[in-house]
Amino acid sequence: MAVMNMFGEPFTFSDLYDGRLVQDVVAAQGKESAQTSEGSDSFLEWHVEDAFSSDRCDYFGLLCLRGDPTAATIFAPARALVLPDEARKVLMQPRYAVLPDIAHGENPEPRTGVAVLTGTREAPEIRFDPVYMVPADPADDEAKSAFQCLTEAVDAAAVSHVLQPGDLLVVDNRRVAHARSPFRPRFDGSDRWLLRVMVCSSLPRHRRRGALRAIRSGAADDDDR
Ligand SMILES: [Fe+2]
Repeated sequence: MAVMNMFGEPFTFSDLYDGRLVQDVVAAQGKESAQTSEGSDSFLEWHVEDAFSSDRCDYFGLLCLRGDPTAATIFAPARALVLPDEARKVLMQPRYAVLPDIAHGENPEPRTGVAVLTGTREAPEIRFDPVYMVPADPADDEAKSAFQCLTEAVDAAAVSHVLQPGDLLVVDNRRVAHARSPFRPRFDGSDRWLLRVMVCSSLPRHRRRGALRAIRSGAADDDDR
């Protein structure tokens, strides 16, 4: 927490992990195939944390308490993506919708009018979650094919890291997509165990949202800083 404080103000969503600021990331028995941090035996697809929300964290930290040599955390920085100009142009237009992920429960409204890439070419931001993202207009084949291009570019830019006990991984959630390889937990108390903390790096934005430690998902704001 002391390290994460250097990146901004710690916060969470009230419907995530019961609003706990420090979250245990541990595989859950019976949820092996879940596309959440409780899953294990299937590939946790590429995503940024809470892509549906403009309140998503700017950074998150993963502190490894117990590792698993077969569980790789995988990253792709947006600036490393090699994309055709035409696809990049489409991805920078607000032609997509994002549904809230199931970790937030039976929740709210999809967020529409979302661009996947924003910012400059040299330092782009990415809002990417293929499990929950679709073209806002189902007939928009151009948006669909640009998204497919992006998925391939993300795969090509992937870098893996297997967390060891004591590692603290800090991820820029605005500029880096991440995923996790499948692994086989034993559910005997010795499985992979990470602690996760999310932060908002803008003190003014944190204050505008009430400086709350646990904010409501769906209380959408603009992507202003
Ligand atoms: Fe994640």
